[in-house]
Amino acid sequence: MVTFDGVSKVLNGVNLTINKGDLLGLVGETGCGKSVTAMTIPRLVPQPPARYTRGEVLFRGENVLNKQGDTLREMRAQHIGIVFQDPMTGLNPVFTVEQQMVDAILSRQNALSATGFFRGWMPSNRQVRKQAQERAIQLLRRVGIPEPEKRIHAYPHEYSGGMRQRVLIAMAISGRPELLIADEPTTALDVSVQAQILRLIAELVREIGLTVLLITHNIGVVAQLCNRIAVMYAGNVVESGLTADVLRSPKHPYTQGLLKAIPDESIERGELVGVAGSVPSLLNPPPGCRFAPRCAHAREKCTTAFPPARTVEAGHDVSCVLYE
Ligand SMILES: Nc1ncnc2c1ncn2[C@@H]1O[C@H](COP(=O)(O)OP(=O)(O)OP(=O)(O)O)[C@@H](O)[C@H]1O
Ligand SMILES: [Mg+2]
Repeated sequence: MVTFDGVSKVLNGVNLTINKGDLLGLVGETGCGKSVTAMTIPRLVPQPPARYTRGEVLFRGENVLNKQGDTLREMRAQHIGIVFQDPMTGLNPVFTVEQQMVDAILSRQNALSATGFFRGWMPSNRQVRKQAQERAIQLLRRVGIPEPEKRIHAYPHEYSGGMRQRVLIAMAISGRPELLIADEPTTALDVSVQAQILRLIAELVREIGLTVLLITHNIGVVAQLCNRIAVMYAGNVVESGLTADVLRSPKHPYTQGLLKAIPDESIERGELVGVAGSVPSLLNPPPGCRFAPRCAHAREKCTTAFPPARTVEAGHDVSCVLYE
């Protein structure tokens, strides 16, 4: 990222694979680059300030970083759905849910027709809108909005936070995407509503075969919901694998610290532990392993070379010199 203070090296050596059908949980401290990583897949990080100097992002076998204009729009419209953290800012307060959903559905179709996907199919405007309205109602029903034929005419402020997030999920899956990117979709919701929304996402994975990249601060959520987990630290994926493997036997000192920091009822009052220190500045990150300044196992080697990912068991990768 080019900032007023200099170039901030936000992502460095991110190595992340999402397999079809995965529900991958991406966790890590605030500011470690989870959102930038996720939004790089549909290339939604504005350029500038972002600049990609190296690497590639392969989606359906093609490097997204080489895509532009219509083909980029088509890829997003056809294959990727996105849900953000705050359901109120995701919706426009001055339009009804219907207007916004119909517009979202139509703009998706327009993005596809621009590249010929819908070419030769030219029904009248009214007919197109009517079909989009029907699809919107059907989607609202699918995400659990009661009486969608009536509720669709309401404004966002007439919905509860959980219902607004359901609307946004409905919009995100309106184009039948393969990949859903959910960036902290439940952080703004209370715990019981949070569980409902997460259950909905899990149902969609089973029913329509979605692949999901779920960003969260909550490892409990990942434990319950995700088959795979990736742990990020200061712009790098330091550990990834099957959720059960990583949580049972975390290998990277940062993952170990993160798991120890989860409060549980056995901990005495005032005993809460955390990972000592804080995330380094990305303007001038430490050479070598970015976690080294906070790591109890750090040795000289850690401060010179960046540790490449090693496979410690099938599908479980760690970037740490302890496992070389
Ligand atoms: N538009 C931008 N301009 C400059 N720097 C940015 C921009 N967007 C993100 N960054 C920087 O990139 C880094 C990673 O940010 P990111 O939003 O990906 O973190 P995150 O892991 O999603 O954090 P959180 O958990 O708080 O959402 C931060 O240091 C942030 O300051
Ligand atoms: Mg974020």
